[in-house]
Amino acid sequence: MIIAIDGPAGSGKSTIADELARRFGFTKLDTGAMYRTVAHVSASRGVDLDDEGAVGDVARALDIRFEKRPDRMHVLADGVDVTREIRTPATDRIVSKVSAYPSVREAMLGCQRAFAAGRDVVAEGRDIGTVVFPDAELKVFLTADPAERARRRVLQRHPEGAPDADALAREVEETLADLRRRDELDAQRACAPLRAADDAVRIDSTTHSIDEIVERIGALADARRDA
Ligand code: DC
Repeated sequence: MIIAIDGPAGSGKSTIADELARRFGFTKLDTGAMYRTVAHVSASRGVDLDDEGAVGDVARALDIRFEKRPDRMHVLADGVDVTREIRTPATDRIVSKVSAYPSVREAMLGCQRAFAAGRDVVAEGRDIGTVVFPDAELKVFLTADPAERARRRVLQRHPEGAPDADALAREVEETLADLRRRDELDAQRACAPLRAADDAVRIDSTTHSIDEIVERIGALADARRDA
């Protein structure tokens, strides 16, 4: 069975997909991490990011693997652990450009489908229900108010505790600007833009807790599994 979860940055996809995978014993596929890996590896090799051909070559040749370790899921690129590097603001800034290239998307599409062959998967991204797994048994499109999405992103960055109110407000403001820029690029691109599949269940996570949403999606998945 495939559960597809799409939505913009900070809509709660990752946390919700983790919890669903744990609950159902499915494997989680974080497709954003794959695009982030291509972006980071291309930049670290000095590839010209405006050169689609060169970035596409990196994407096609790259061996991306996920490894479950006690602390978290790690991402390996040609055997090198890039888990931390792919979440930096530097990678945030370049990933939308790299993920808009059709040659990069084509390379990732093959890897994503191969990853899911023969297993139960919760896959999260932007085009899972529309392009990667159009026959997924359950498709969810998650949204949330942009300001709330920015606030969540900032709090995630400070697991040790939130900064003081002024610093928090400033960081939320900056993050909101970056989220809006990325949403726009992801939704406007020609190839596989961020869009809800016609048969996706739309859920707004602004005013619901993660637990409530997981309950709701879990109930939908149970019903589809038994159908
Ligand atoms: O989910 P995320 O923020 O880690 O995704 C990083 C970037 O990758 C985001 O800007 C959009 C892109 N992406 C995509 O184009 N298609 C996907 N299926 C997943 C992510």
